[in-house]
Amino acid sequence: MNGRTIATQAVPTQTTLLDFLRAQGLTGAKEGCAEGECGACTVVVVAGRGQGSAYRAVNSCLMFLPMVDGQEIYTVESLASNGELAPVQKAMAAAGGSQCGYCTPGFVMSLFAEQYRPDRAGPCDPHALGGNLCRCTGYRPIRDAALSLGPPPPGPFLDRLAHPAPGVGPLKYQCDGASFFRPSSIDECLEAMGRNPEARLISGGTDLGVESNLRGRRWPALISLEGVAELREFSETSVGVTIGAGLPLSEIAALWPTAPAVVREWLPLFASPTLRNRATLGGNLATASPIGDGAPLLIAFDATLHIAGPAGMRRTVPVASFFQDYRRTLLAPGELLTAVEIPKPWPSCMRFYKVAKRRMDDISTVAAGMAIELDESGCVLRSRFAFGGVAAIPLRVVEAEEAILGQPWNHAAVARVQAVLENTLKPLSDHRGSAEYRLAVASSLVEKFWWEKSGGAA
Ligand code: FES
Ligand code: FES
Repeated sequence: MNGRTIATQAVPTQTTLLDFLRAQGLTGAKEGCAEGECGACTVVVVAGRGQGSAYRAVNSCLMFLPMVDGQEIYTVESLASNGELAPVQKAMAAAGGSQCGYCTPGFVMSLFAEQYRPDRAGPCDPHALGGNLCRCTGYRPIRDAALSLGPPPPGPFLDRLAHPAPGVGPLKYQCDGASFFRPSSIDECLEAMGRNPEARLISGGTDLGVESNLRGRRWPALISLEGVAELREFSETSVGVTIGAGLPLSEIAALWPTAPAVVREWLPLFASPTLRNRATLGGNLATASPIGDGAPLLIAFDATLHIAGPAGMRRTVPVASFFQDYRRTLLAPGELLTAVEIPKPWPSCMRFYKVAKRRMDDISTVAAGMAIELDESGCVLRSRFAFGGVAAIPLRVVEAEEAILGQPWNHAAVARVQAVLENTLKPLSDHRGSAEYRLAVASSLVEKFWWEKSGGAA
């Protein structure tokens, strides 16, 4: 931490990195929300990138201390040297980017990671600050600070990036009767799950961290998937793309530069950059949230999930049939989601829509993944309509697809899909939207898809 090795024991397994830092006197990182929404707690970890490394901004409020075992962390306290502020700090001060200062260390650390981003060309991207909220300064001066920064200055922080990041090794940690295991292979993981049937799996921790912090949940055993290299693999062949279930969302974007446009639009809509640096596609699916942003598009792609189980069991299931009930999947006890496979060829017309109170860094009220393939005469060869936020589970509406099969893709077909939605979707009412609103949104998104993809031609 900040260039020093810290050895610690007897810290409860669910102590957050943020609480630990602050107990050490490193009080630059703050707690604003304890759920990954505000970025006041941002620090950077050194992550592998090619032969070297990169600084990756993360929310320290969502990382349990054992998760950073063996890792290299830098906090805002490490930036100034010999009484001189780092360029990111100077830029924030010069632009008037700080008033009360509560959010400032978090902004500074996100901006630091962006300034040192290895493939950066030109000014810093203000979107790197998308997970940091400021409630008093206003964003323009902060944006100005980001845009004013030049290349990273020579020095130890830049030199560090030429060397590999520390590996994520195996770990067995116990405190107060609770355990934290970090196996290093799928087989070891399945074995640990068999020995500890009560254990919860944890990957990036962006969901369990919230349960721990805000709902006070405590687990007797946690099994971390971060040390399992097989879960972080990415491969592309002529028949499809396979994404390891444990690959952080930001790495998927980096490893898949040739992804179809809809994927490049979809990935930035998951939460914020700091959360995408930790959250995984496997976690997004396995938590089975009805408003998760992963499922609708993957269903539209006809993606399948790879599952590993005890005694060498391996099986695949379509994403569309993975969800059984509210927050329940067809994963049996002892089974692990290992990868998501997206088959080629991609449908020629696809969109992902996310309707929320804010466009970025928000929870979907309704999400939709849609795909359509037409024959030469403009009739529907294949379609997919999948929604989140309209039922207890992410839903593929097969009846809507069947209603337009072989039909011209025109306004009458849109109306037929909408009629099916009216009868099949059973949205819930909550503070994000009433059932009626959600149904109206889902229905209008089908029309929007048609307008966007057909230019409104009747
Ligand atoms: Fe708000 Fe961590 S305290 S994101
Ligand atoms: Fe006060 Fe940002 S400076 S919240």
